[in-house]
Amino acid sequence: MDIKEKIDQLRQLINQYNHEYYVLDQPSVDDATYDGLMKELIALETTYPEFASPLSPSQRVGGQVLTAFKKITHQRMMLSLANAYDEADVRAFDARIKQALQREEPIPYVSELKIDGLAISLEYQQGSLVYASTRGDGVIGEDVTENIKTIKSIPLTIPEKRTLEVRGEVFMSRAVFQKINQVRAKQQEPLLANPRNAAAGSLRQLDTRLTAARQLDAFFYNLVNAISLGIPTHLEALNFLKVQGFKVNQETTACDGIDAVLAYIETFLNRRSTLGYDTDGIVIKVNTLALHETLGYTAKTPRWAIAYKYPPELVETTLEDVIFTVGRTGKITPNAVLTPVRVSGSLVAKATLHNEDFMILKDLHLGDHLLIRKAGEVIPEVVQVKVTTRRQDAIKVNMITHCPSCQSPLAKVDAMHYCLNKHCPARHVEAISHFVSKVAMDIKGLGDKIVEEFVSLGFIKNIADIYRLHQHRETLLTLAGYSDKSVNQILEAIEVSKQQSLEKLLVGLGIKEVGEKTAKQLAKRFLTLPALMAAQEADLLALADTGPILAKAVVDYFQHPDHQALISALMDLGVNVTYLGPTVTTQASFFQDKTVVITGSFVHYKREALTTLLEQLGAKVTGSVSKHTHYVIFGEDAGSKLTKAQTLGVATIDEATLLTILNKEKV
Ligand code: IVH
Repeated sequence: MDIKEKIDQLRQLINQYNHEYYVLDQPSVDDATYDGLMKELIALETTYPEFASPLSPSQRVGGQVLTAFKKITHQRMMLSLANAYDEADVRAFDARIKQALQREEPIPYVSELKIDGLAISLEYQQGSLVYASTRGDGVIGEDVTENIKTIKSIPLTIPEKRTLEVRGEVFMSRAVFQKINQVRAKQQEPLLANPRNAAAGSLRQLDTRLTAARQLDAFFYNLVNAISLGIPTHLEALNFLKVQGFKVNQETTACDGIDAVLAYIETFLNRRSTLGYDTDGIVIKVNTLALHETLGYTAKTPRWAIAYKYPPELVETTLEDVIFTVGRTGKITPNAVLTPVRVSGSLVAKATLHNEDFMILKDLHLGDHLLIRKAGEVIPEVVQVKVTTRRQDAIKVNMITHCPSCQSPLAKVDAMHYCLNKHCPARHVEAISHFVSKVAMDIKGLGDKIVEEFVSLGFIKNIADIYRLHQHRETLLTLAGYSDKSVNQILEAIEVSKQQSLEKLLVGLGIKEVGEKTAKQLAKRFLTLPALMAAQEADLLALADTGPILAKAVVDYFQHPDHQALISALMDLGVNVTYLGPTVTTQASFFQDKTVVITGSFVHYKREALTTLLEQLGAKVTGSVSKHTHYVIFGEDAGSKLTKAQTLGVATIDEATLLTILNKEKV
């Protein structure tokens, strides 16, 4: 046997053992044998580098260090699912389907577990994995091919030679999650919050060795081009995936009619806690693939599937205290301080109490036993107070009358209380924390605690002082907890942030009504901060989606002398005040410098997402068709714009053609 054959044989054997171990959970050899084969393969590949292959199982240990994740346009948009929260919602879904299909008899469904991880899309060509990408915004995701290769249950090569796009969920098992947290606890490192975040964070590592160390796993639940491969049902598509070596969840079950689906949901209400991985619901899909096309899609979700979401877990704990926080606008929020408890996978020690009305409604007393849950599985909230177990002498919690930070009397506007003192230290801390946060200037290393410390030490009195922090370098080094390295890192991050594009600065300034989306629109339209400052309300109103409230808020902000002084200080300190353009750069794009008009509705794209995408590819997207228009991209129900294009002889592109073009772009 020659070397090449020997290498191929070893690869095949190791792939087979990987599959047995990681997919089938039925290993047929012991670890030592497996390790021996791997060693042999690595030795041969090192000695004969001409036979090295990026798809060799030896490459799964990671090692590639990426500089950034490339963007990938999904050939078909990665949709999300509509949610159902109770039996009535599930029955309504069934009724809609029967109505649309004009059928009375039970619909054949497939019920699946909704795995709580992150969605992933893989493409195989001629039997080899060519790319893997995250969902992103559904239209454009991130290229995580190198990271995905480290997941041992995902085949790098498959028997099928035709092009396949498969989708599934990357997750971290509960066992791995616990093991990692045990190690982190020992080393006094911060714990991972829950398996889902852990999986998402682990996959998106530029150093792929870190991904490899996290032992991620993946279930696959969708073969995108099943119909064109001649596969008629979802179950058969899953079976096909299994044969190709993908891990398909074994709890997936055919359910004839909605009653069988409801029984499945009921079973897993109890069983879900015993599974080796987190689930957040049940996905119900129509089994016949041809019916998927008949039933069609809404803008964001298929009409042939729905996700039943389990009710959020209610957990009992005790109210230890109530503290009041001051936001950057001076808004006061009461927060419950709780005996820490684990809720839906993460530790909760605080819950919002919203405002005075909520506190009165719940009639809170210190020491109360409360039922809490994570609203939308994210923000913890108080659902119920157990009045029966309250002690007679329990102290009632009242709204405060003065700011906890500067002691100014609070003013009540509608349901909310505000501290109106512009120089309130707590407001400063919040304003600065917002300025440095990820959505704004993204200054890494300046966390809330550090900002608070620097404000209380008097180093940072306003936003501009962030850029003067280097003057305090020597003093910083004398503080407990700061080293040469950490101070340098902070100062460097501050320096780097000077080059952020205008929209980030606009978000950071905290102008009323100006969030990320509006900031981007303003930056794109006015290009520089001085130009925006010179804008009148009428100029702002001319922008799409801009109403009078926003226009007034922006003009008012820039008219204020304090804000003008702040901006001129920032400019003097070298902070960039110009729009630096889209972050995605492309060369020789099909749409580069083309004027395009979009009309009608699209199955795989939201209109706005498509506009952004085309702009990123260099197109100028306009609203009306003229002889200067290069292309009219049309979806369903396109009207007069399409007719006009045809009259003027302007080229038109339908959705299928668009998908082909965009797929070639692979931004
Ligand atoms: S099907 C067009 N099946 O849930 C339908 N999704 O809310 C595509 N998910 O983005 C999704 N388990 O990340 C499907 N068995 C399953 C799933 C599942 C988890 C996730 C997936 C998707 C999200 C939709």
